[in-house]
Amino acid sequence: MDSGQVLSHYNDKKILITGGAGCIGSNLVRTLLSVDPAKITVLDDFSASFPWNLPKHPLLQVIEGSVLDEQKLKQVFYENPDFVIHLAAHFANQNSIDHPETDLMVNGLGLLRVLEYSRLMEPKRVIFAGSGCSVYGSHAEIPFKEGTVSLTLDTPYQIHKLLGELYCNHYHEIFGLPTVIGRFFNVYGPGEVPGQYRNVIPVFMWLAMHDRPLPVMGKGEETRDFAYVDDIVDGILRMGVIDGAVGEAMNLASGTETSVRSLADLVIEITGSKGGWIQKPKRDWDRSNRRLASIEKAKRILGYNPKKDFKEGLVTVYNWLETNRENVVESLGPSAGLW
Ligand SMILES: NC(=O)c1ccc[n+]([C@@H]2O[C@H](COP(=O)([O-])OP(=O)(O)OC[C@H]3O[C@@H](n4cnc5c(N)ncnc54)[C@H](O)[C@@H]3O)[C@@H](O)[C@H]2O)c1
Repeated sequence: MDSGQVLSHYNDKKILITGGAGCIGSNLVRTLLSVDPAKITVLDDFSASFPWNLPKHPLLQVIEGSVLDEQKLKQVFYENPDFVIHLAAHFANQNSIDHPETDLMVNGLGLLRVLEYSRLMEPKRVIFAGSGCSVYGSHAEIPFKEGTVSLTLDTPYQIHKLLGELYCNHYHEIFGLPTVIGRFFNVYGPGEVPGQYRNVIPVFMWLAMHDRPLPVMGKGEETRDFAYVDDIVDGILRMGVIDGAVGEAMNLASGTETSVRSLADLVIEITGSKGGWIQKPKRDWDRSNRRLASIEKAKRILGYNPKKDFKEGLVTVYNWLETNRENVVESLGPSAGLW
């Protein structure tokens, strides 16, 4: 199935997206609005995103509230969504080290409540945003394949992402809920405002745009699998409509490995930054030297085929930050993110 055929399955459908104002969610909303859904409902508490990140559109309903709030959940599930895409999360590793209980509440209990309401309302599909950067641990064989997960994880975020998978499997096995787990790797793209707890790409880009040195943790030889958000959105939409995906967990990534130092070099080249980069000690919990996903399973089951060239993707992030500079500065407050 090509991407257009996949998208056409969402015509006339009601789609609930929790955490839909974030990086992945806002791009997913825009893609879905390019067809004719009956309605898209975003439930987001804006704890890590901003309303300006979503378009204004008659088919888009934005409800401000938490996935922990039963009243809000009743409100959004009462509409009987065809698809539930659960992206809301307390994000990510360092944030969970600093706030482990909030992480458990949002990523554990929040998901559990979404699954309970889904069981009552019986949507066609429930997609859970899992994390391939989490469940394989720090010492898995490269490339990471779906068959094995680690029971020795480094942060509460990683633990709760694994817990989320266990809950999804439980609801699928015991109640027949049609769940699918996407194990995303380092997702980047327009729509992510840099910040203390945010991913390396928007943070590097923003610092470079201000001629600040880029803090490269460790030797810089550490690698990550950076996945462009449009490719992830395409994978999510496929998970919603391809029957063979139900009950499965699949990596969604680029299937390529990039060192953090070469990322820093590219960001400096794109922005023309005079700040260069500096070496910083690794964070205690960060024991992952290499990350590379196998995307064979997603290719086979979903027809997933990530397309974005890395440098092109980085230029898109740069352009988005330039275009939205005022909103970003206002959202970041007095420090303007220049920690
Ligand atoms: N971006 C990545 O690299 C990556 C990698 C692996 C997995 N994931 C997962 O994918 C999902 C989406 O990621 P993202 O990059 O868009 O993150 P994001 O932080 O940009 O989006 C998450 C959204 O959830 C909202 N949210 C937080 N707590 C909430 C709550 N209690 N109730 C309702 N909304 C709440 C935030 O305000 C934000 O808009 C998350 O579940 C994340 O853990 C992301």
